[in-house]
Amino acid sequence: MMKRQSTSISAMCCGAAIAFMACVGAAAAPGGGSVTFTKDILPILQENCMVCHRPGGANLGGMIAPMSFTTYAQTRPWAKAIARAVSTRRMPPWAASEIHAGVFMGERVLTEGEIASIVSWVEGGARRGNPSDAPPPLDFPDTGGWTIGEPDIVITMPEPFFVPDDLLDDTKYFPMVLSEELMPEDRWIKASEFRPGSVAVHHIILSPVGGIAPGNAPSVYRDGYSAKLRKGQKVIWNMHYHKESGPGTGVWDQSSVGVKFYPKGYTPEHVLTVVPLGPMDFAIPAGDPNYSAEAWHTFPKDALINSMMPHMHYRGKEVKYELFYPDGTQELMLSVPRYNFNWQTSYRFIEPKAVPAGTRLRLTGWWDNSADNPYNPDPSVTVTWGEATHEEMLFGWLSYTNVDEDATANSGIRRRRSESESESDE
Ligand code: HEC
Repeated sequence: MMKRQSTSISAMCCGAAIAFMACVGAAAAPGGGSVTFTKDILPILQENCMVCHRPGGANLGGMIAPMSFTTYAQTRPWAKAIARAVSTRRMPPWAASEIHAGVFMGERVLTEGEIASIVSWVEGGARRGNPSDAPPPLDFPDTGGWTIGEPDIVITMPEPFFVPDDLLDDTKYFPMVLSEELMPEDRWIKASEFRPGSVAVHHIILSPVGGIAPGNAPSVYRDGYSAKLRKGQKVIWNMHYHKESGPGTGVWDQSSVGVKFYPKGYTPEHVLTVVPLGPMDFAIPAGDPNYSAEAWHTFPKDALINSMMPHMHYRGKEVKYELFYPDGTQELMLSVPRYNFNWQTSYRFIEPKAVPAGTRLRLTGWWDNSADNPYNPDPSVTVTWGEATHEEMLFGWLSYTNVDEDATANSGIRRRRSESESESDE
């Protein structure tokens, strides 16, 4: 996404996230008071916020914005919270480092100038301005609630499942065979969008269609890339439920996923290999604020890396993917310094990243098991690998394609085990 760069003095003053408080009251920016909602702020909200902050806005794995910013009346009461949220880069949600600006699809980042405009607007009294300055309202097409557009098929869990009152955190598996009606022939997947069937859904993995975790956007394969869904394919709903437990907390769940295919007869150039890279033999000491573990993957052939999705639980705080090339050089491929459990993001390269055979990838994750971590359910225990949310995980999901492979020879998506990983398949 291309961004305007503002050159105002206030941009320099207030740009740094931490400088926000220092700038409050120091509205010395030229024309600081002339910043208005209609002229300056609405365009920023349209471009960066309204995808979620509008009626019927995006539902990213259960993360739904609780308020709309489509009009001045809706936005004005939130002005101060907005200034705070953008200054601390809590909003828009995007946990990757600024060094990756322009590298990943769907990036959600404000420029320093945009943050400065919002801050001086709030300092100047959050004024409406001249209605005729407002840009035309955005048109959000009605796609029946599907971000990916009307799906070709909807796969639904075979039966509704009652998530019992006493269930706090558990994983359930529901196998099913795709019916002939649903899948009369093999098809190549273009996009998928999960619809959790209840608030108790914490994450879903449905191989080979995909999965969803809190904050995760629907998946759309770039043109030419795909995974195959076969006629009569057996799939397993891997459902992780998480809720308060106690009388009356039980809910029915029957989650579903909408799938869009490439046109019939289409053959993709690239079939994706998905690697759930991650260590499982760690023990995070009680109270440790900075415990790390790592895992390695070696690319057997020249490869094009498509995407990465780090996954940790409440104690996760930072993740890195680093490349070690055969010629001895090194590169930081993805740094997520603000890992947040609620905003799990798939980082998809705009240009797939080419790596030569023999390149090694190191995944490192850091946890904060101290009492200072506001999400920490219990800093007094040693935490080991486990699927439940109060246990921990470090997965660096990785999807790539081998450059010289013929897609037609493959039966679909393949999952390869990482060197350090021995998880029993779901
Ligand atoms: C990808 C969806 C998404 C985008 C884009 C987004 N938000 Fe949010 N926003 C949310 C959700 C969901 C919440 C509620 C959960 C939370 O607070 O994390 C939220 C909460 C907030 C809050 C309340 C925070 C608080 O202090 O409680 C503010 C303010 C906010 N957003 C402002 C913005 C602004 C301004 C933008 C654009 C610059 C933006 N958001 C972009 C989804 C989004």
